[in-house]
Amino acid sequence: MGKGGTVMKILVIGGGGREHAIIRKLMESPRVSKLYCAPGNGGISKDAECVPISVSDIAGVVTFAKEKAVDLVFVAPDDPLAAGMVDELQKAGIRAFGPTAKAAEIESSKVFSKNLMKKYNIPTAGYEVFDDPAKVLDYIREQNTYPTVIKADGLALGKGVIIAADYEEAREAVKTIMEDKKFGASGNRVVVEEFLTGPEVSVLAFTDGKCVKPMVSSKDHKRALDGDKGLNTGGMGTISPNPYYTPEIAQTCMETIFLPTIHAMNQEGRPFSGCLYFGLMLTKDGPKVIEYNSRFGDPETQVVLPRLKTDFVDVLESVVDGRLEQQPIEWSDEACACVVLASGGYPGPYEKGIEIHGLNADGQVDGATVYHAGTDWKDGKFLTNGGRVLGVTSLGETVPEALKSAYAGVAKIYFDGAHCRHDIGL
Ligand code: AMP
Ligand code: GLY
Repeated sequence: MGKGGTVMKILVIGGGGREHAIIRKLMESPRVSKLYCAPGNGGISKDAECVPISVSDIAGVVTFAKEKAVDLVFVAPDDPLAAGMVDELQKAGIRAFGPTAKAAEIESSKVFSKNLMKKYNIPTAGYEVFDDPAKVLDYIREQNTYPTVIKADGLALGKGVIIAADYEEAREAVKTIMEDKKFGASGNRVVVEEFLTGPEVSVLAFTDGKCVKPMVSSKDHKRALDGDKGLNTGGMGTISPNPYYTPEIAQTCMETIFLPTIHAMNQEGRPFSGCLYFGLMLTKDGPKVIEYNSRFGDPETQVVLPRLKTDFVDVLESVVDGRLEQQPIEWSDEACACVVLASGGYPGPYEKGIEIHGLNADGQVDGATVYHAGTDWKDGKFLTNGGRVLGVTSLGETVPEALKSAYAGVAKIYFDGAHCRHDIGL
């Protein structure tokens, strides 16, 4: 459609750093006449009109979109996708970016995604599925190979994956997931998986179910502390491009993973439309899938979207309308880095409502872009309101230059208990 495309009112669902990055990219488009975000956050409220509708309130979102004659709803988080928000919007005649619930199962059920990969010969770690805790433990004892990987079947805020170093840890993991039901019904079944090693790469891809166009690659840092120590988090920082992801590897992934996955979803009667996230591990035996996500990653989005040169609305519309093949997508050669500033204690318990110093009235600093992940705007102040608080991001000629500017941005911001990793991108 290009420059002649109509202008639109767009509603973004979600309220984290990923959604802020989506909104900031949409703001660059001359095709956007109005931006809403539900529920948004303190920083997002400077860029879009935030509406107090929860991401789980599907009926509320449909009603709001109708009332305001919204032209496109961008459903960003996993939970509303798995719960069928896109299905309900479509039924109401409202255009939505994101997969249907049946397609989103590629993320919301590990059993489904593992069985899919096995059936269609998509490279992934070997595995077995169990619904009986005693049988899992028998199997693990029989295998007697450690570390071993135990995954809850369903969504678990990124915390349902446990890498057990020995039998004791495996037993503890099975108890946590299947007996204590720490992740609720997500733990009714578990996948026990072979432990793989190699560099990890995140590749987000636009797909309309017919064609797949990968975005530039990125690398996430999931552990809380420097040197990949500490607990797993939602992600403490990202860089793009990922230095391990060469054009040859990209070609292999296209042939052995990306296209076969799109084909497999079509064969299963679950065509996937939206952003499909491939979490890959580059093993000795070639790239393998660690996980699929049915959405943009957080904080991968924060380093990928700043590099998008093509009008974002044109791209989103081509996906929703099933004509992605004809839509050119251009990326900047610049690198991008994002450093997350987290609350004291995160990923464990943390306090909220702590004043953030160093941001201007728009929630920004000079020399970097600040994506707000967990903030509130109250009485003229930004306050912390989540575990991951801010994602300080910068483009640069190279990854080290982007990192230098991002860390210079971090140095301007202060709140009590704030912590970040100092080795993002190293
Ligand atoms: P996931 O939530 O599935 O992305 O898993 C979280 C993290 O656990 C991944 O980013 C990997 O670092 C690690 N992981 C998951 N599955 C495996 C595996 N089969 N072998 C080694 N590491 C894994
Ligand atoms: N950063 C990983 C995710 O979004 O799941």
